[in-house]
Amino acid sequence: MKKIVVLVSGSGSNLQAIIDACERQQIDGNVVAVMSNKADVFALERARLANIPSHVISHLDYSSRERFDKAVAKQIDDYQPDLIILAGYMRILTADFVNHYAGKMLNIHPSLLPKYPGLHTHHRAIEAGDKEHGTTVHFVTPELDGGPIILQAKVPIFIDDEEQDVIERVLAQEHQIYPMVVKWFCCDRLKMLNGKAYLDNQEIPAYGYG
Ligand code: GAR
Repeated sequence: MKKIVVLVSGSGSNLQAIIDACERQQIDGNVVAVMSNKADVFALERARLANIPSHVISHLDYSSRERFDKAVAKQIDDYQPDLIILAGYMRILTADFVNHYAGKMLNIHPSLLPKYPGLHTHHRAIEAGDKEHGTTVHFVTPELDGGPIILQAKVPIFIDDEEQDVIERVLAQEHQIYPMVVKWFCCDRLKMLNGKAYLDNQEIPAYGYG
C-alpha cells in the first residue's frame, strides 16, 4: 500500500475525492498526511474529519522560497511517502524541491494544458471566447505546469456562463480523473522516465489521455 502526502492551500475538494477513493479501496494507498501553507482552510478540516495528521507551514514565516520549500520537504520526508499530490497547492515550487520528488509528484491544473498555465485559468478561457475548457493531471517538473501530461478532461463553456459555473464544472471532472490517476500510480502502472509519462510501459501521448 502506497503512502501519500497531499499538499493543499484551499477547500480541498480534490483531497476529499482522493481520501474517499482510498477509503473505498479504489486506490491501493493511504493519505498519511496533509500539508497546507495556509491555516484556516477547509482542507484541514477535511483531514481532521478523516483522522489524517495535518501540518501548516506558512510561507510567510520564511525569508525565501528555498527555505520554505526545505521546511516543507523536511516535514514531508518524515512520512517517507511514495507519492506527493498537489491538490490546489498554490505555491510555485523551487527546482530543488521538485527534483527531490522526481517521478513521484502529481499536480492537477484547471486548464487544458499547455493552454493557460498559471493563474485565473477559467476567467482567461471565458475572456478568450473558448467553447471548451478543462483540467489536466500531470507529473511535476521544474517548469510551472509544464510536466508530462497524464490525463485531461474537457468541459463545455456555454454562452451565458459565469466564472463560477465553469469552476464547478471543472471541479466535478477533477474529482473523477485525479483519483483515477492516483490509482494508476499506486498500482505501479504509471511512471515518469526521462521527462515522459508512461502507462503500462506505453508512452502517454503529448496531450495525455482523455
Ligand atoms: C482545483 O480546481 C485545482 O485544479 C486548482 O485549484 C483548485 C483546488 O480546488 N489548482 C490550481 O489552480 C493549481 N495551479 P480544491 O481545493 O477544492 O481541490
